[in-house]
Amino acid sequence: MAYYNIRVKDVGMVITSATTFKEGKHYPGLPAAETDEHIPGLRKLSKVLKSHGALAILQLFHEGASGIEDNEAPSAVVADNSASPLPRELSDAEIQDLIKKFGDADAIRNIDTLADQGLDYIHVSLHDFWSTPRRGVNDKRARMEIFKDVIGNRTALIGVGGIKTPEDASKALSTGVELVAIARGLLLEPRWVKKVQEGKEDLIKTKLFRGDQSKLLLPDGVWSMIELYLPFED
Ligand SMILES: Cc1cc2nc3c(=O)[nH]c(=O)nc-3n(C[C@H](O)[C@H](O)[C@H](O)COP(=O)(O)O)c2cc1C
Repeated sequence: MAYYNIRVKDVGMVITSATTFKEGKHYPGLPAAETDEHIPGLRKLSKVLKSHGALAILQLFHEGASGIEDNEAPSAVVADNSASPLPRELSDAEIQDLIKKFGDADAIRNIDTLADQGLDYIHVSLHDFWSTPRRGVNDKRARMEIFKDVIGNRTALIGVGGIKTPEDASKALSTGVELVAIARGLLLEPRWVKKVQEGKEDLIKTKLFRGDQSKLLLPDGVWSMIELYLPFED
């Protein structure tokens, strides 16, 4: 809660980290929405997220073929670029059950179809806002630009990935995406938005040091894997 609390003061919306919803598939350190037992905790979390006026969004998550153990996916095919074990192939009935658990909107994979569902927004979580498609389309533009093109004005698109400075945010917004999100930037600098609003960009913390965990109120789970996302400067 402390980790979220110092990061929600200025932002307009908070999307939680991946939240498990399948009983028994809980990962330590991640929020869970598996059974009614989790409701009081989720209520507390939502109160913190909204305490300064931000919208609170719970991100439901199924790890698919990328799970660490006992993973399961639509096909028994190892995930690209991953060290995950071969997943068990889900039956049709299990897939239908998962779709039900996700809720109708999340079950529809095709972004074009999604855009017709009357959603408030679509959030595409990429590592790099400007990354280009690896396969499947003959289009040199960034994936986010292609998505925006496909979606048109049907719903808002939230883009994320490598946005560190107000200039990065402006450049991303120039593609037509309605909103941009910041992950690592906010881990490093909980008051990123406020500092930008006050013209104090030069005071934004951009480097991570080994002694920063308690200063940044980063929980052990996040800290243990932080090096995968941000290099230490010392
Ligand atoms: C510690 C950490 C945990 C993350 N967990 C999630 C997650 O649970 N769900 C998700 O969609 N993206 C997750 N991401 C990816 C971010 O949403 C984002 O796509 C990525 O970090 C690139 O954006 P950034 O440059 O603003 O960090 C995570 C990123 C970090 C650094």
